[in-house]
Amino acid sequence: MFRVSQFKPILPILLGTCLGIALNMMFAPFLEEMCDTPQISQEHDSDNLIKLRETMSVDEKKPVIEKDIGIVDTARRENLLPVTKQPPKTQKPKKKIVRPRFASTELGIREKLFIGVMTSPNTINSFGVAVNKTMAHYVTKTVFFSVAKLGNTPSGMAVISFADHHVKHLPLHMLKYISDHYAHTYDYYMFMTDRTYIRAEKIFELVSHISVSQDVYMGSSDLQNNEGSNVCSLEGGIIISQSVMAKILSQLDWCLKNAHSSNPSLTMAKCDKVYRHYKVDDFDFDDDIETLRNDGRFNASVSIYPMPDDLSIYKIHRYYCQLELNLTRQEIEKAKENIVHLSQFAPGGRDSLTWPVGVPESVQPTSRFDVIRWTYFTETHIYFDDDFTNVQKLRGVDKEDVQEILQTAFERINQQYGFIFSQAGLVNGYRRFEPIRGMEYILDLEFRKKNRRDLVPKRVHLIRPLGKVEIIPMPYVTENTHVHLVIPLQEEELDEFPKFLDGYVKNVLEKNDNTRLYVLFINQSINKRDKKDVFAVAKNTIDFYIKKTNSDATKIVWKSYQTSNKTVTLFDVTDRMLKDLPSDGLLALGTTAMEAEQDYLNRVRMNTIKKHQVFFPISYWQYKQNLAYEKLPLPNEVEIGQKYGHFDVLSYEHSSFYLSDYVAARKKLTLKDLSEGNVFDMFVRYKDLNIFRAAEPALKCRWRKLTCVSDGNADQNTECLTRNAQGLASRSQMAKLIFEHSDEDETAARKKLKLVS
Ligand SMILES: *[C@@H]1O[C@H](CO)[C@@H](O)[C@H](O)[C@H]1NC(C)=O
Ligand SMILES: *[C@@H]1O[C@H](CO)[C@@H](O)[C@H](O)[C@H]1NC(C)=O
Ligand SMILES: *[C@@H]1O[C@H](CO)[C@@H](O)[C@H](O)[C@H]1NC(C)=O
Ligand SMILES: *[C@@H]1O[C@H](CO)[C@@H](O)[C@H](O)[C@H]1NC(C)=O
Ligand SMILES: *[C@@H]1O[C@H](CO)[C@@H](O)[C@H](O)[C@H]1NC(C)=O
Repeated sequence: MFRVSQFKPILPILLGTCLGIALNMMFAPFLEEMCDTPQISQEHDSDNLIKLRETMSVDEKKPVIEKDIGIVDTARRENLLPVTKQPPKTQKPKKKIVRPRFASTELGIREKLFIGVMTSPNTINSFGVAVNKTMAHYVTKTVFFSVAKLGNTPSGMAVISFADHHVKHLPLHMLKYISDHYAHTYDYYMFMTDRTYIRAEKIFELVSHISVSQDVYMGSSDLQNNEGSNVCSLEGGIIISQSVMAKILSQLDWCLKNAHSSNPSLTMAKCDKVYRHYKVDDFDFDDDIETLRNDGRFNASVSIYPMPDDLSIYKIHRYYCQLELNLTRQEIEKAKENIVHLSQFAPGGRDSLTWPVGVPESVQPTSRFDVIRWTYFTETHIYFDDDFTNVQKLRGVDKEDVQEILQTAFERINQQYGFIFSQAGLVNGYRRFEPIRGMEYILDLEFRKKNRRDLVPKRVHLIRPLGKVEIIPMPYVTENTHVHLVIPLQEEELDEFPKFLDGYVKNVLEKNDNTRLYVLFINQSINKRDKKDVFAVAKNTIDFYIKKTNSDATKIVWKSYQTSNKTVTLFDVTDRMLKDLPSDGLLALGTTAMEAEQDYLNRVRMNTIKKHQVFFPISYWQYKQNLAYEKLPLPNEVEIGQKYGHFDVLSYEHSSFYLSDYVAARKKLTLKDLSEGNVFDMFVRYKDLNIFRAAEPALKCRWRKLTCVSDGNADQNTECLTRNAQGLASRSQMAKLIFEHSDEDETAARKKLKLVS
């Protein structure tokens, strides 16, 4: 640590002065400066004094800093060189443990860091934007404050402007605003100007390591008050803790009233703690950086000011990002060396080290089913990529992946051998994905030496390790949310309906699940001549079950949807339901093929989160029973098993989302998307919501043959045909069927297979 010795008295900036007035309030009883009026002193109860006292005085009570991030404790120094203004020691009462007032504080539930940036109408678009771009994403909240009304404010920035034209009142207005809006929301508040460059990630780290129960008033001190003690300058940034903020705010009204008549020569309160900062004079990045980079104090600073223009802010930001990157690389190298060094003491010695150092070693499979397969590839094709393909052309991300890997391998090897090679060709490539390691590759390459015709074979091993695993915080959800289960029913699905309804009544309705079923009869017979209601039987069935189970008639509701279009998309269905359902309702789209179960509805409740997540399960589909089962009788329920069905990754018809999220995403939908009718794609494009998609064993569907429309979207038609083919039976089952019938006339067998499907 080092101490900043730059005490050159400089003109206290107006802005600082005024904030100082406010900050001064709380220190008034000690510094005996302004704001020290009888009423105020009386308002301080003794407890308050104790806390303040401790902040101002010495070592044992200094904020607990768990890590050395460059805080200089000026209080300690004062202890060595007694300051005249220090109150007599006798006044110092016995310390008592100051615990945070609210449980939420103690648990750290408040958000971390608020930054208030003072800007002006002339600088908001230059300095303001630069500050926002280099800092805002590291901290919890950034708000810009300005006097005078601003015209167009830059997008994505919170800018508050006050009608008052006096720049010197800005800090007080800012404090007032914070007291009205954010008084208890943050652990730390930082104030700065738009001429300050701060390394926000360092500042955030700094406050994250200070105990929240302490009073903190921290900044850069290069101003001196008239007594010669150093004070925080607003230009260098000031950090105060919630506890100090609360005290300031409690005095704020008084200060607001009296600020105008106050003595302008007042100084700011003393800096309690100082963080590493660097004040530059007449800064020019390109000229000065060569000298500054050799100044350890500059490298270690978290605040650099004042910035002459916005370009300097960006340049200096780039410098520190590179510095940070270089340091991180060095640390990684050091950690690697450490691991190698320590391995000799570990069981197995040096040999126990796996490659690459620091990446978890691969799991030893316990049985042959756990073996992770290597996939073979060449520069153009990939073989046995999944269970359903033998060979496939490399394209899209797979192609990019292979090209990048080849390039990397070539460059590294070439570098190692002194750039003697001119090109490399891939002979064999293998890759596999291991969930704890990442993507691994083994490549057999042939290198061609420059100006030579012979080829040099080499085998290389590469790994693309997984990045940092992130935990996304999610709001809490419960299992008693009301679900609106919507089943669109077309004429051709009528056969499935009784089975579905029977299951629903048994497994959901009779168990009093908090779900309401909506059956939407899709009536495409408008143009047809016949007047018969095709859904009459279905309607009667619903009535029958309601009577039979004695349930509330609103538990199963049917609606009808009249349309003349040939295809009805899930958009049409959802849009139709919008007017009947509450706007914040949880909607689950289903089909008559599904086996309705409480388990699945609970999965819907847990996996759908308002404003955060929509749920698109990969449903399990039964194979056609007479093909999959060898013996009769066929079971009534859908059985899960490799032989009996499969998880259909192409199925998107089951989903759940909150209607409010749907409406928000729907607004951004283009006509083209709408005609394709894919709700999943809409959410993918919308980007504001997570999409949760995973194999869902609680969602079991009976086999059905999908109706594919050949004159519609070509992709959709191929997908539909693929689903029908894959959903029939497993490949081995079908192979066996063909084999069994090969005695008969082969074409007859094929015909039979076709008939069965
Ligand atoms: C300001 O910062 C926020 C948060 O990083 C960002 O979303 C926004 O686009 C930025 N605005 C400008 C004008 O740079
Ligand atoms: C400051 O950082 C630069 C860039 O990494 C480095 O070259 C220089 O040696 C550092 N200076 C000091 C005094 O550590
Ligand atoms: C980081 O390292 C690179 C290459 O080693 C060097 O060119 C660059 O100047 C360094 N930057 C900083 C800020 O240290
Ligand atoms: C379907 O439409 C026809 C013709 O408009 C009508 O007669 C019939 O009742 C409708 N069916 C249902 C279930 O709404
Ligand atoms: C289907 O018809 C409705 C009106 O009945 C219309 O609003 C909708 O856009 C149509 N959908 C398609 C895909 O044509």
